[in-house]
Amino acid sequence: MGPSTVTGSEEPGSPRSGDGVACRYGAFAADGTEYVITDPRTPRPWANIIANSRFGLAVSQSGSGFTWVDNSQLAVITRWEQDLVRDCSGKFLYVRDAEDGALWSLSPAPTWPTYDAFACRHGLGYTVFESRLGGIAGRWTLFCHARETAELWLVELANLSDRPRALEVCAYLEWNCGVAPSPRREFSKLFLENWYEPERRAVVARSHMWEVPSVRYGHWNTSFPYVAAFASSQPVAAALGDKEAFLGRYGTAVSPDALRVQAWVPAFGRHGDPIAALRSRVELAPGESRVAGYALAVGSTAEEVGELAARTREPGNMTTALTDVRRAWRERLAAHRVSTPERSLDYIVNDWARYQAISSRLWGRSGYYQQSGAFGFRDQLQDAQVWLTIEPQRCRDQIDLHAAHQFTDGSVVHWWHPLSEQGHATRMTDDLLWLAFVAAAYLRETGDFAILADPAPFLDESTPEPLSEHVMRAFRRAFSRIGPRGLPFIGAGDWNDGLSAVGLAERGESVWLAHFLAGLLADWSEILRRAGAPEVAAEFAARRLALVAAVNEHAWDGGWYIRATLDDGTPLGSAASPAGKIFLNAQTWAILAEVAPPERAAACMAAVREHLVTPSGALLLTPAFVEPVPEIGYITRYAPGMRENGGVYTHAAVWAIAAACKARDHALVGTLLTAINPALKDPERYCAEPYVLPGNVDGPTSPHHGRAGWTWYTGSAAWLHRIVCEWVLGVRPEWDGLRVDPCLPPAWRQAAMVRPYRGCRYRFTIERDPTLPEGAAPRLAVDGAEIGGNLLPVPAAPGAAFDVVVRCR
Ligand code: GLC
Repeated sequence: MGPSTVTGSEEPGSPRSGDGVACRYGAFAADGTEYVITDPRTPRPWANIIANSRFGLAVSQSGSGFTWVDNSQLAVITRWEQDLVRDCSGKFLYVRDAEDGALWSLSPAPTWPTYDAFACRHGLGYTVFESRLGGIAGRWTLFCHARETAELWLVELANLSDRPRALEVCAYLEWNCGVAPSPRREFSKLFLENWYEPERRAVVARSHMWEVPSVRYGHWNTSFPYVAAFASSQPVAAALGDKEAFLGRYGTAVSPDALRVQAWVPAFGRHGDPIAALRSRVELAPGESRVAGYALAVGSTAEEVGELAARTREPGNMTTALTDVRRAWRERLAAHRVSTPERSLDYIVNDWARYQAISSRLWGRSGYYQQSGAFGFRDQLQDAQVWLTIEPQRCRDQIDLHAAHQFTDGSVVHWWHPLSEQGHATRMTDDLLWLAFVAAAYLRETGDFAILADPAPFLDESTPEPLSEHVMRAFRRAFSRIGPRGLPFIGAGDWNDGLSAVGLAERGESVWLAHFLAGLLADWSEILRRAGAPEVAAEFAARRLALVAAVNEHAWDGGWYIRATLDDGTPLGSAASPAGKIFLNAQTWAILAEVAPPERAAACMAAVREHLVTPSGALLLTPAFVEPVPEIGYITRYAPGMRENGGVYTHAAVWAIAAACKARDHALVGTLLTAINPALKDPERYCAEPYVLPGNVDGPTSPHHGRAGWTWYTGSAAWLHRIVCEWVLGVRPEWDGLRVDPCLPPAWRQAAMVRPYRGCRYRFTIERDPTLPEGAAPRLAVDGAEIGGNLLPVPAAPGAAFDVVVRCR
């Protein structure tokens, strides 16, 4: 170990600024960009998903987790078992006192020691474990390099006691090098190989088989295309490569046999259960501290990975690399910020939700509840909206990538895996239309019509066609699936995956899809008009009118819109339905897509308030299905009140906030924003992380009403940012400029936002003015001068800055 460069400046457990929003397990610290957990026994694992665009790791407050490259399901480097109750599986760092044999870990897992002081700091791009035990202070920082395929550990130990200490440090991980989860270890280890390179202080691993179906190579007849290396910056006293040799027969990670034995038999090769264990000795005088580095690197050859590990494992380089990562996140999110009276909402909207959308959803495509790796056709397109105001080119790239996953008949794969390009073709009816939705959002934000010419191939035709053609084929395909009553078929599901059997015979209809399509037709008739295609623009406008008429003729249930009809014509989401009497999306999107005439809009929002709004957010439907209904689909098979089956499905609950804004219901906006804010929850009931959004919260039919789950891996994160900025603060791009139309919760007197628009910088100060008449449009002053109306025109040239003061009701 070298001399320490970054030793403990504060006591473990002390949030830095002390101004954070706290609960009994931890608090936001600094400027909200760190969440500091001081009691590691959180009700569920509280994780961090740390990634660059190719490589990443998931780590919980216990220290458990895993590492991947390029695909968090097909190319998982280290083993992990998804057991969120024990949460004791992953990569560990042990410290052993060589004199008295005391053994502990620098994160709670796997030894769960009683620390004298403890903090786990989850930050944007890194996690730090700080501990103090028996006079030894430890700090273990984990992060991934901003650009390289390397996970880095910066480890600092300080002797706070008044006697010299002889310690051993041992780093441990299990190699997976392939598809995960991989429960058939006895099979997969037959192909793994590891070896030790003493001059590089690195254990290297690879697999001679990759369990990915590939027509190209023949069944399973290909090697895992990566080599991994785990290297230490400090002299290695001993290295070990086999799990049984490390743990001992029937041993456990809590007290591995090997840590009590001095001489290690290396046990590398092709015939064991491959791990990497690296042990080093550290002698510390009283008051002395040391720092060491470990790198877990991935590359295409042993030579390349050895070089990468050697280059990145040095603590000096690592400190610079960590500074880079933190700077990159700060800069990435800097241009668009909000400030509201609710500080925890600012922390989430400004930093955590966008970090969640980028790190977990777009780059890692993994959470702690779901290791996906795939691109969902509709999912990552929606997530890519997070780039619109800060790096729109990345949204454009995502749109082009999805366009290339369409067939010539306009249909698309529901998801596909990068690396294997294995995709899932379904009869879901909405996926293909999200291409049009996100392309329209990109066009409204940027005005960059050149995107329409972006070339992309089809899955079944390699000749590229422009994006506009891809979008047209999606529309034409959707038009071909409109039934005799003028409503679209639901097929194997629409946005709601669980409505998987409603329309398998192509007779059942989707009312939500009708709303969605009607909104898209309005957008695209405008886009086509501007792009010089007036006839198609007129056709789309006419189709929209017909669709709106059909919805209002056939889908109004009396008090709200039904959600769908089954193949036999039975309505779903009707007051007459035995379960699922009212569905949220059928109401909120009737408002968002302007399908509902004013009196129906008022009625269906009133129904949402009466039947669906709970203190945990708006339910996706009520009442929940209690028995499986095969004619409806797997939504009915979830436990009642869970996920889509009558839970708060955060993705849709966030859309409800936009609808409440559009309906100008300030009180409901306030209720719904508070209801879904994870930082304002009682963790004993809510259970999940206070700093990121969950996929769902149990509804009232569950005995655990208010319990959150499926955190990180949810499309609600990108949407929350967009909706708070565009609907609550009300600054949204339209075709001819920025509309300013806030709908603040009643308790808010003011808010502020800075955001870029067409190369200029806009600073908004929003003030509530109760003297304005109810329903009055907000008053705007730009650089001190009042303007008429509430539309800021497209700026004449980039590079300017505008100060906009908004007075609103
Ligand atoms: C999951 C899917 C998403 C879908 C949602 C609702 O989050 O990834 O595509 O829209 O469930 O069923």
